[in-house]
Amino acid sequence: MCAFVRTMPLHRPQDNQLMNLPTNEPAGSRLIYGCMGLGGGWNQDALQAGHIAQAQAAVEAALAIGITLFDHANIYTLGKAEQCFGELFKQQPSLRHQMQLQTKCGIRFADASGPKRYDLSSNHIIESVHASLRRLHTDHIDVLMLHRPDPLMEPDDINLAWRTLFEAGKVRQLGVSNMHAGQLRQLGAALDVPLVANQLEMSLLKTDWLDADTCFNDAQGQSSLVWGDTLQYCQSQQIGLQAWGSLGKGWFSGGAPQDASPAVLATAQLVQDLAEEHAVARESIVLAWLLKHPARIQAVIGTAQPERIRACRDAGRVALTRAQWYALYQSARGRPLP
Ligand SMILES: NC(=O)c1ccc[n+]([C@@H]2O[C@H](COP(=O)([O-])OP(=O)(O)OC[C@H]3O[C@@H](n4cnc5c(N)ncnc54)[C@H](OP(=O)(O)O)[C@@H]3O)[C@@H](O)[C@H]2O)c1
Repeated sequence: MCAFVRTMPLHRPQDNQLMNLPTNEPAGSRLIYGCMGLGGGWNQDALQAGHIAQAQAAVEAALAIGITLFDHANIYTLGKAEQCFGELFKQQPSLRHQMQLQTKCGIRFADASGPKRYDLSSNHIIESVHASLRRLHTDHIDVLMLHRPDPLMEPDDINLAWRTLFEAGKVRQLGVSNMHAGQLRQLGAALDVPLVANQLEMSLLKTDWLDADTCFNDAQGQSSLVWGDTLQYCQSQQIGLQAWGSLGKGWFSGGAPQDASPAVLATAQLVQDLAEEHAVARESIVLAWLLKHPARIQAVIGTAQPERIRACRDAGRVALTRAQWYALYQSARGRPLP
């Protein structure tokens, strides 16, 4: 059994009893399976049997290494990623009980009514959840995430959507993605429930979330100031941090592009050396670096390849030393710490 499974029973809240609120404990395992790569391409082509078989292989590999939380969004491969899971649940209903499902809403692509836009209006949130439930062939979503901040969002209206969906038993917990501390504060003040998670891009390939702390008093840190106290706010409010892009597109574990920067190539070599030293796959080193952070980050892995999913299995048991952690951080930054 995988070491990083967090034992957190998700109880079904009593319908229409908002006093019986869900806890704000983040759901699921330290690794989360990201489903963006499932369902074929981002096109209108119909879902094929091969896509469902691919999803099945990925789900089996993820469950086998202890992953219990699966991350979707209504837009992934234009709905086909969710559809794949719906087909799997039809074939094997017991599968649904082995996992927690997270999905997101709020991004709308250009259509007859307008350009690409974000929409966190209550009507759109509620309609999106109903559509996701139909595609997923399930009666509830464990964690609903608001995919991106919408400048036109009105927190009270979002709370209305939450109450409607929660009271109907369709959504159990609420999270967000790509939001900074100010937005979390504003939203949190209007919500009946604590937010359970904030999903952000964090990886060896994107270290500004750390630079925001280590370099805030340094000219090099200016570009990361936008992070502000987002990390600390999430930690202090027990808003779970989920890292998307956690594998860094595979650039440090064998998939670096031909024109990769010297920093990427040097970091890939360091990952390789540490993988040999700890006798694990390179993917596990890349993820262990994230998991060592005291914020107890959950890493969302997006590979659709079962062998790469299995290569992540040791992420929770690799104990990187402080020196190794800093060596990876500085190498990936491509410049020394101040
Ligand atoms: N909240 C948000 O705004 C947001 C945004 C993006 C993603 N996400 C979520 O986060 C998850 C992970 O993010 P991500 O998929 O962008 O990033 P990721 O996990 O860092 O990278 C996965 C991608 O890298 C490729 N890859 C991994 N190792 C490789 C290697 N050794 N060689 C070649 N390619 C390799 C994978 O291809 P293979 O499939 O071929 O392995 C896949 O395309 C997504 O699935 C999604 O659930 C959320």
